[in-house]
Amino acid sequence: MTSLKKFLIINGPNLNMLGAREPEIYGSLSLQEIIKYTENNLAGKCECVWYQSNIEGEIVTRIQELTKQDYSGLVINPGAYSHTSVAILDALHMLKIPVIEVHLSNTHRREEFRQTKLTAKASTIIMEGLGKNAYLMAIQSQLL
Ligand code: DQA
Repeated sequence: MTSLKKFLIINGPNLNMLGAREPEIYGSLSLQEIIKYTENNLAGKCECVWYQSNIEGEIVTRIQELTKQDYSGLVINPGAYSHTSVAILDALHMLKIPVIEVHLSNTHRREEFRQTKLTAKASTIIMEGLGKNAYLMAIQSQLL
């Protein structure tokens, strides 16, 4: 029996506040509810490990650990760090696995400062505007 592909899903700052945070932009589901929704739709197809932090350095450390671990891909929503973090960009550059950057909202329809995505320079794929389906579709793209 072949083992299932394993994915790490990293969520950056303020994504622990989904549901309560600007629901007109990000929807009414909490992160826990989105995780459950994603896991239910992927049941038996892969293994998902979820990590959330509001702290840039913690995210960098988790990405560094990935270089020594056996994962098939990283899905990352860096939140606002996407627009600012050279440290996360540098960490992502070390990875040899596909990196799928996701944003729940379509940032191209939003403020000018959200148009710059430093972290996307190290991403294999970038997906935006899919709301609660963002993580599900990012992982599914690696299962085809
Ligand atoms: C976000 C978009 C970012 O601009 C914002 O700072 C977030 C969430 C998204 O998922 O749409 O925190 O990454």
